[in-house]
Amino acid sequence: MSIVLTGIKPTGDLHIGNYLGAIEPALKSAVDQNSYFFIADLHALNKEKDPQKIHQYTLSIAAAWLASGLDPQKIVFYRQSDIPQVSELTTLLSAVTQKSLMNKAHAYKAARDENLQKKRDPDAGINMGLYTYPVLMAADILLLQTNLVPVGQDQVQHVEITQDIAQNFNRTYSQPVFTIPQYFIQPDLATVPGIDGRKMSKSYNNTIPLFTTPDIWEKVVKKIVTDSDISNPKNSSLFLIYKAVAPESQSQNLLSDLENKRIGWKEAKDRLLEAIITRFGDMSRDYFNWLKSPQKIEAIFAQGKEKVIPLAQKTLASAQKACGLS
Ligand code: TRP
Repeated sequence: MSIVLTGIKPTGDLHIGNYLGAIEPALKSAVDQNSYFFIADLHALNKEKDPQKIHQYTLSIAAAWLASGLDPQKIVFYRQSDIPQVSELTTLLSAVTQKSLMNKAHAYKAARDENLQKKRDPDAGINMGLYTYPVLMAADILLLQTNLVPVGQDQVQHVEITQDIAQNFNRTYSQPVFTIPQYFIQPDLATVPGIDGRKMSKSYNNTIPLFTTPDIWEKVVKKIVTDSDISNPKNSSLFLIYKAVAPESQSQNLLSDLENKRIGWKEAKDRLLEAIITRFGDMSRDYFNWLKSPQKIEAIFAQGKEKVIPLAQKTLASAQKACGLS
């Protein structure tokens, strides 16, 4: 059976676009696979220097995935920094990785280009963690002999770099130590518009939070921008959000009620609020319950660690042997 692996960066608050466009499809595609999901806390260190935030985001993103239905009995769920072999393998991979490969990586290039554009030193503010981000990610993937990495478009290059690194290592030591992973681009099931009609995104400040309480959802839904002209509800952000959240038959009803002027925007917003509460209300309660019991999350991480360490150790040992360390 193929090994499927995904890393999740611990970040702040999630919105319903994250759930519908990333979390839900990832969980669906993991069913019946030999799946490993982990929180990439080592990667987060490159950016976030507040230790409390690192700790808190790790727990809250874990709570988010658990509340979203990640079943740790079916998907091995672990924390990257619990697996010391990740860091050990990173060192071995660094020795066979060309610097020029890192120069091409998008995240580094973007930071460098921004510096150049702002007439700063090209390396200003760029730490080695950002520069070698792809090597750490390759270690995550190669350590478990991963076959498939489900990714969004933005991570394709990282998996390609991983393929290069793995091939380089295997070639250098003339041994097939690492499985060459393939990426799998998740079809973009849902791009959800935000409350202002642009794509829902933290950077536009137009999001509907995923985990919150009905009174907050109500406030946000009220703010959804609607056109005084109601003649084309099909393309309104209100309808498109509803369509992404509610079952198909209900969104057909809403559309025809709007088109035939049986209801106005106010009633449509009430229905959207109801649909959001139906879809995400229980999930939100679960999320806050998980957050109240961080020891339960730690217990799940411990279970994941126990499953991952033997596999990680096996790959690391063969990599060490291949390069003459033992
Ligand atoms: N770089 C990924 C992101 O930004 C997170 C990640 C870290 C990852 N290690 C990984 C994803 C290994 C897939 C496989 O989202």
